[in-house]
Amino acid sequence: MNTTTSFHDSQSGGVKTILRASGLSHAFDYTLFENVDINIHQKEAIAVLGVSGSGKSTLLHILATLLKPQHGEVIYGDGFMYEQGDKKLLDIRRHDIGIIFQSHYLFKGFSVRENLEISSMISGNSIDMDLIKKLKIEDTMHQNVSELSGGQQQRVSIARVLLKKPKLIFADEPTGNLDRETANEVMEVMLEYIEKNNAGLFIVTHDEKVASRCNSAYRLQDKRLFPVTV
Ligand SMILES: Nc1ncnc2c1ncn2[C@@H]1O[C@H](COP(=O)(O)OP(=O)(O)O)[C@@H](O)[C@H]1O
Ligand SMILES: [Mg+2]
Repeated sequence: MNTTTSFHDSQSGGVKTILRASGLSHAFDYTLFENVDINIHQKEAIAVLGVSGSGKSTLLHILATLLKPQHGEVIYGDGFMYEQGDKKLLDIRRHDIGIIFQSHYLFKGFSVRENLEISSMISGNSIDMDLIKKLKIEDTMHQNVSELSGGQQQRVSIARVLLKKPKLIFADEPTGNLDRETANEVMEVMLEYIEKNNAGLFIVTHDEKVASRCNSAYRLQDKRLFPVTV
């Protein structure tokens, strides 16, 4: 099921905007950021850099249905994300949003295949073996996930998210535990996915090489989101 209908963004020559956020401000013990605007378009990969504690994960959570901002709005598809009822918000999270965390939340004690079947059940598609091969986990399908290396587990968690066929991928330092070569391959898979599926990617990273592969990059600093060239 697809719960969104994207709309045209007159600013970008007919490219469709998937999500618009404006005037976002959020504080916990101190103000993390104020008045942040960000749009995510189809086929667009956006990277956010910034020191630890600057609020990158908080911003990602706000854009990804997980946290209502204290100020500002997030418009997803045809409505205000945080004015949807709980059921609609859960539907969006379940079907349209894919979240990849640095520490992967796989079901320990289950095989790789069982972990992946959960996503294919949600999307109603069978497991895409091309994707599994690209992520180099085809030989691990029958292994218990707790037997895999950290890098393999991260690739399984990325496969699990992509098999859901999300319209938006939110990745919070997804390559943090990976070696350079694996990090490049994982980026390749995510970029190819958004291109093929008209999806968007929002990625928080410390790695400027990862950021340089995105269409645009920002730095969260002094409570603002600055565009940067990497
Ligand atoms: N749920 C929360 N409750 C209280 N403080 C929080 C919460 N989430 C994050 N923080 C605080 O907000 C600050 C920014 O956190 P975070 O968004 O995780 O930053 P980053 O991802 O850039 O390291 C940190 O000081 C963190 O302790
Ligand atoms: Mg973080």
